[in-house]
Amino acid sequence: MNTLPEDFTILALETSCDETAAAVVRGGRTMLANVVASQMEVHQRFGGIVPEVASRQHMLSLVPVVNEALRAVPGGWQGIHAIAATHGPGLSGALLTGLNAAKAMAWQRNLPFIPVNHLEAHIYASWIRMDEMPAEEPAPTAQAERKLKSLKRPTDPAAAPPFPLVALVVSGGHTLLALLRDHGDYQLLGQTRDDAVGEAFDKVARILGLGYPGGPAIQQVALGATPSGVLPRAWLRDSFDFSFSGLKTAVLHKVQERQDLSGRLPRPGGSERRQGGRTAPPAPNVPAPAPDSAKPASASLDSTFVAQMAHAFQESVVDVLTAKAVDAAVRHNAAAIILAGGVAANLRLREELTRRANVPVRCPPLALCTDNAAMVAAAAFYRYDASRSDVWATDVHPSLALGG
Ligand code: KG4
Ligand code: ZN
Repeated sequence: MNTLPEDFTILALETSCDETAAAVVRGGRTMLANVVASQMEVHQRFGGIVPEVASRQHMLSLVPVVNEALRAVPGGWQGIHAIAATHGPGLSGALLTGLNAAKAMAWQRNLPFIPVNHLEAHIYASWIRMDEMPAEEPAPTAQAERKLKSLKRPTDPAAAPPFPLVALVVSGGHTLLALLRDHGDYQLLGQTRDDAVGEAFDKVARILGLGYPGGPAIQQVALGATPSGVLPRAWLRDSFDFSFSGLKTAVLHKVQERQDLSGRLPRPGGSERRQGGRTAPPAPNVPAPAPDSAKPASASLDSTFVAQMAHAFQESVVDVLTAKAVDAAVRHNAAAIILAGGVAANLRLREELTRRANVPVRCPPLALCTDNAAMVAAAAFYRYDASRSDVWATDVHPSLALGG
């Protein structure tokens, strides 16, 4: 645990994937600014993230995003005590842009520099004080809004999460369960053996012709489904590991059964360029394909079937994630469960985990589930080690593990 003063204010950058983000957080918990420039539209036409394009967009957006974040800080630069940036895991070129920008700014202003692990940062999103945050942004539809409102809130939203706790980190590149006994004391309990859960959402959405990003699209379509049939669950008994590739293949087979689309369907497994998976399938003939090429099956699948598949897929994923997280919490006497990462935005997952857990579940607001820099600043505060002199030599680590 650090001994930083409560008003220690950190400017953080996050560029590990396709969001260019800057944020300012005071005392590890009070968010002063949280600015995110999404590249979603740029990558949507490719059906996934193109790493080279992501790096270029970061270069264009970094300075405006930092300037906007600083505008919310009394005294601007004078109010900043340290600068943090994500150094892994993520896309190497994308990570390099934020890491080097942060180091350069810190060096020039004679401020400490704090490298941050992106997976830890997702967990620390739950340290940002919910009671001081603006009201949660409205969900995309009235149905989703009702679901969001029905979720239980932690008994004291001002309190920091209690240790020991179990963290379920579910994002586009990672799926893992970890036990945290204290700040920086991590034990990996299990992780995915194949696809990350967000990657599975994205690939299944592609198979169903729902476009990119798949998570919100599947959630949206599933809300309107009349449930019919179930899809398999990979329980991997006696293990906290996960597997989602069989489920994805089951969806593909159902789609193939429904219509003879074999010649037109995308390859769900295919080689992908982002480690852990969320990048666009390789396109041999760049320039960009027409926007509709990311929706290969939509024209020939009826919407009732698509909604049922989306619903059955989401239920299968939510069932396994929830059961394992609750089991881990019981087995390790956890005082809370933290839900983290982009897939933590999934309302069905939040609902089911909150319902089944025997301890409070901490879910950050939707805006702090997907990639942002406020979580990086929070993690930096708790992981700051003033005695480290080697931080300036920090390089990017595309495959950095939790706790690494
Ligand atoms: O954490 P994140 O923003 O980036 C990574 O570090 O990967 O996670 C992005 C992932 C994407 O795969 C996206 O489809 C998924 O989070 N996602 C969702 C939802 N919103 C975003 N998955 C399920 N339901 C959602 N509502
Ligand atoms: Zn992330």
